[in-house]
Amino acid sequence: MFGSRGVFAMKTMELHLTVNGQSLNWSIAPGELLLDVLRRQGYFGVKRGCEKGECGACAVLVDGKPINSCLMFAAQAEGRHVLTIEGVAIDGKLDPVQEAFLDHGAVQCGFCTPGMVISAKALLDRRPDPTEDEVREALAGHLCRCTGYLKPVEAVLAAASKRKNRARRVKPLTEVSR
Ligand code: FES
Ligand code: FES
Repeated sequence: MFGSRGVFAMKTMELHLTVNGQSLNWSIAPGELLLDVLRRQGYFGVKRGCEKGECGACAVLVDGKPINSCLMFAAQAEGRHVLTIEGVAIDGKLDPVQEAFLDHGAVQCGFCTPGMVISAKALLDRRPDPTEDEVREALAGHLCRCTGYLKPVEAVLAAASKRKNRARRVKPLTEVSR
């Protein structure tokens, strides 16, 4: 009935982006969601929850800002820097936010944890010394069935003070080279 077999061929496009510091080229369908593409590529720490932008389980940083990857077309990530939970620990060393979540019992089933850690990291990168209200606001888009929210808030506040102490211990480069 249709003259060309190409009518049914799935259209694809090239996507060039950086994920966790690695420059990548992927072939995607134009309407694919960033969530689907990331998971297909093996970033399973990006969780599939509500798929409606309501639970925060799929959060990643795009150019340093937290977004729900279920609400973003993968094509919109062209040329951008994406950070998933897989890229938060550096050389096997957990980020202070991850350590604090473990230390404060803020991880139970763990389903919401990657998204919460991602948003908390974005907050602390922007506001190293946040108030409790700011922490609560940063975590407001994340639903957790297990922890009751108090422990994640405590964890983020503890991570902020740990990061501050760490920064104090690191001498400025000028002092080190003297
Ligand atoms: S899966 Fe994206 S916000 Fe719930
Ligand atoms: S720890 Fe289970 S949903 Fe948050």
